[in-house]
Amino acid sequence: MCGIIGYTGKKNAVSVILEGLKRLEYRGYDSSGIAFFHDKGIEVRRCTGKIKDLGALLEADKPFSHTAIGHTRWATHGRPSEENAHPHRSDGIVLVHNGIIENYLPLKRRLIDEGYKFTSETDTEVLCHLIEKYSKDYPLEDAVREALKEVRGAYAFAVINEREPGKVVGVKKDSPLVVGLGNGEFFLASDVPAFLNYSRDVIFLDEGEMVVMTDDGVIVTTLDGSPIQKEVKSVSWSPSMAEKGGYRHFMLKEIYEQPRAIADTLRGRIYPESGEVNLDEFGINEKDLEEIDKVFIVACGTSWHAALVGKYMIEEFARVPVDVDIASEFRYRNPILRHGNLLIAITQSGETADTLAAQREAKRLGAKVLSICNVVGSTSTREADAVFYTHSGPEIGVASTKAFTTQIIGLYLFAVALGRLKGTIRDDLVKELIRELLLLPGMVEKVLATDEEVGRIAKELFKADDFLYLGRGINYPIALEGALKLKEISYIHAEGYPAGEMKHGPIALIDEELPVVFLAPKGRLYEKVISNIEEVRSRGGKVISITNEGDTEVCTLSDHCIFVPETNPFLSTILMTVPLQLFAYHTGVLKGCDVDQPRNLAKSVTVE
Ligand code: G6P
Repeated sequence: MCGIIGYTGKKNAVSVILEGLKRLEYRGYDSSGIAFFHDKGIEVRRCTGKIKDLGALLEADKPFSHTAIGHTRWATHGRPSEENAHPHRSDGIVLVHNGIIENYLPLKRRLIDEGYKFTSETDTEVLCHLIEKYSKDYPLEDAVREALKEVRGAYAFAVINEREPGKVVGVKKDSPLVVGLGNGEFFLASDVPAFLNYSRDVIFLDEGEMVVMTDDGVIVTTLDGSPIQKEVKSVSWSPSMAEKGGYRHFMLKEIYEQPRAIADTLRGRIYPESGEVNLDEFGINEKDLEEIDKVFIVACGTSWHAALVGKYMIEEFARVPVDVDIASEFRYRNPILRHGNLLIAITQSGETADTLAAQREAKRLGAKVLSICNVVGSTSTREADAVFYTHSGPEIGVASTKAFTTQIIGLYLFAVALGRLKGTIRDDLVKELIRELLLLPGMVEKVLATDEEVGRIAKELFKADDFLYLGRGINYPIALEGALKLKEISYIHAEGYPAGEMKHGPIALIDEELPVVFLAPKGRLYEKVISNIEEVRSRGGKVISITNEGDTEVCTLSDHCIFVPETNPFLSTILMTVPLQLFAYHTGVLKGCDVDQPRNLAKSVTVE
């Protein structure tokens, strides 16, 4: 996820872009850049850091221009650096991009053969060179059309051409792009807040649409050039609402972003026809992977819950034993690691002090380290032997939601890839596992439709003092995550427990006052969970169950029931998680808590 913006009009485009980028900073903030027309052509300025650093770069000579584009980056390919920051340039073509070009590697090889010089590690640069190539024969919009015939992936981009001053071309596919209409001035951005101070008249571009902005106006066409009449909508959001995409809080927005975040994490990493997982993505060579005889996973907080889910998946698919540790415990327990072992560090921020210490200890002992991380260029990724990036985009809400579900995706892909390599899963099963993965974003979308129902349940229960979350097998870590989320967001005491262990203690807590949340999907342990529900009911506890669509048995035993679609037990953990996130969110809001910044918590814990 990144923020892009373009402007053409009477104002100073440099100031408009800078202001817009500040409002898009929530979409990415590791580096930024701007390109603007001046007398002699187009000038590009870029830097690492926040938008204020870009502002400082422009402060000295205060350039003036009528047409410019800008970018605030959340790195996906290539660490945050000046060279990797956008805009990218190929001769007279200058471009900013948000998305992922899936086939950038073969395109890059070909363009290098054709004589193009690459100056960054990004996937974006291929798009820039390709457009440049066609711009020799075509005007900008047609060059873009030609280039896109060769590109696969997700993109929203804005591009300018030195030979066509005053013109900005934008295209949208699978990444957001909106157009703002002002009085003799036009805007293009990833999101409305970028220009809300100047215009509330907005065209929301749809998939595969192109916009051409000049001083004369705005033309929207399809990619094959047919004009489209677009409706102009008037936006009434306040700037702070707009930044959250119309959601009340970042946490809710990020819960709703999960179908997209999951799709982005999968992008370019699987070959559905063959069932192959792109092993390059794990950066460990096949020989080293084959030799792995034991896996350790370390993490903190929510990431530790993903680690626990990962154990089930790796042991099932690859038949390799897995130890899971809380990082702060691992580093002091004198762990037995050696060459041939793999340590997976899971960390959304890549900066958690305990997780870094654990991965350093593993390296010292001769194990290889794989980091599953959401922040490109973070310490964990720099120090690891291999990295799998979750492409969930920046997570602003302190309590992790989309970063967690995409970590599970990373572990699933790793487990399948390792199993395939070790020959411990059949090819037809691999294909099935990949097929189910591709259906997942749509299923998460369906689960999000339970939001209202979950909100109603929260309204009934938000005054409770304690909650118990119970699950068995791979859903036990999800019970832990549900309880943690509720604690973090609503400050209600909540405990996660393996449902089968309830009778050894927590059962003593059960009375009419205690809501008990059960994770009860169909599957091997379904009957067992039903018995546990009976045990709670017979002691008067309130039962809230999450089960699969079409289930009646669990529902007749529960006070409240939430349905999620059925998939394999491994991916089901993600579907089970979403209602728990929503429940924590609504409960927190009802209790008047600051859900985006809960008291005493930090997004990145860089101290012990
Ligand atoms: C903090 C955050 C949690 C996160 C944990 C681990 O406590 O508030 O949301 O799960 O750190 O962070 P990491 O970046 O290593 O995943």
